[in-house]
Amino acid sequence: MWYSLSAVVTLLCIASVVQGLDLKSANDQPCFNIPTPKTPKLDEKWVHSTHPMYFPVMSTNSLYRVSLNVLQKEAKDVGFATVYYDACLKWDMYDNGTIFSTGFNGLRKEYKTKTLVDNPDAFTFVGEGGYKDFYSGTLYTTLTDNKSFFFATVCMNNREMSWGVASTTPTLTEETKKKIFDHAVSLGFNKEDFTELKYDTCEN
Ligand SMILES: *[C@@H]1O[C@H](CO)[C@@H](O)[C@H](O)[C@H]1NC(C)=O
Ligand SMILES: *[C@@H]1O[C@H](CO)[C@@H](O)[C@H](O)[C@H]1NC(C)=O
Repeated sequence: MWYSLSAVVTLLCIASVVQGLDLKSANDQPCFNIPTPKTPKLDEKWVHSTHPMYFPVMSTNSLYRVSLNVLQKEAKDVGFATVYYDACLKWDMYDNGTIFSTGFNGLRKEYKTKTLVDNPDAFTFVGEGGYKDFYSGTLYTTLTDNKSFFFATVCMNNREMSWGVASTTPTLTEETKKKIFDHAVSLGFNKEDFTELKYDTCEN
């Protein structure tokens, strides 16, 4: 009895170790239209001069997809714990249209962006490498204070909508988080897919 029970426990442990990221259960809803603002929401000078920006809160879908793009791996080959403990994702955005995402102990991937003609707060972005389709699409800034964070609503090339927040600090105040979560809910994003990335175990 004892032996069979411990065998079951061992099997369960092995199963949870080899199980990859579940992109299907982290799916967000289909892309919806974002209204074009009359004046820009985002101060681009601020964004382009802030290095790095952290990625403290987002939809699970965004976290998985950005991670897979940095790792250049299939979802089935990446464990859940790896993402939460080793991702340590950071962004660097430049006025020449280049964005870098760094994480997993110094891995770096580049994105090329192009501003939309009819919306200064929106740009298309394309990653590099064979797994670029994990995270390419159109990003709309829908909320910002121009000094500590901006909220990006993303319609990915697979026509799913997701979101993420870039911030100057690795943690956010409860007040800012509430503002962000309320905004995400108001856009129609599912609370069950909200997630946070911690930086306390990051080496750099
Ligand atoms: C942020 O900066 C943009 C561009 O300068 C400006 O139009 C917008 O009103 C600013 N928003 C806030 C909340 O400061
Ligand atoms: C844009 O600027 C960054 C930072 O200086 C640089 O690393 C990157 O190579 C540049 N990209 C292009 C396409 O010139």
